[in-house]
Amino acid sequence: MKTLILNGSPHKEGNTASLLKLFTERLRGEYIIVSAYDGGISPCTDCRYCQKHGKCCKKDGMEEVYGYAAGCDNILIASPVYFSELTPPLLAVGSRFQAFYCARRFLGSEPAPKAKRGGILLIGGGDGEYYMAEKSAAILLKIMGAAGDFPLVYCGNTDNVNSEENREAVRKVLDLVDSFAG
Ligand SMILES: Cc1cc2nc3c(=O)[nH]c(=O)nc-3n(C[C@H](O)[C@H](O)[C@H](O)COP(=O)(O)O)c2cc1C
Repeated sequence: MKTLILNGSPHKEGNTASLLKLFTERLRGEYIIVSAYDGGISPCTDCRYCQKHGKCCKKDGMEEVYGYAAGCDNILIASPVYFSELTPPLLAVGSRFQAFYCARRFLGSEPAPKAKRGGILLIGGGDGEYYMAEKSAAILLKIMGAAGDFPLVYCGNTDNVNSEENREAVRKVLDLVDSFAG
């Protein structure tokens, strides 16, 4: 079983990282974590190459991600909520999946034929809105080829309680990883 994890946090030991550690400790099979803040992946510039060729013309870290996304069984989008959205670098990485969208829309080809599940892990400092982040994550998961319902874990109030001390969030993360099993 292969799992692609897209991580939108800039912190190596932050709240998202803590829950991802829990998640990957229990996860079966292999996985890769793509950290949006580590650079190496530039945003889509709508050059429209993919409308004719069904793939992206940019040569960067995304080439490996496309291959993994196409062949994996699960995709998890994990991100802090910034202004109720996914973090900007994660949206930039996500924008590169426009190549998948265009392959389907303009060329009628399927860039990610393998069935896959999706899940969403969102972290917020307060107890505010995360609807836009959830919606964006769901759109990206569908473009990446995931189907079905996408289980969501929202861990709020990290301004006061670190994510790994949030028992409810920890329990839901363990449920989420179980939903990726088998
Ligand atoms: C620019 C910025 C915008 C933020 N916007 C929100 C927000 O809209 N809602 C919220 O609950 N927290 C917001 N936060 C707080 C982060 O989501 C919170 O600190 C989170 O725990 C960071 O996760 P990390 O430690 O994994 O990076 C924001 C933080 C930053 C830096």
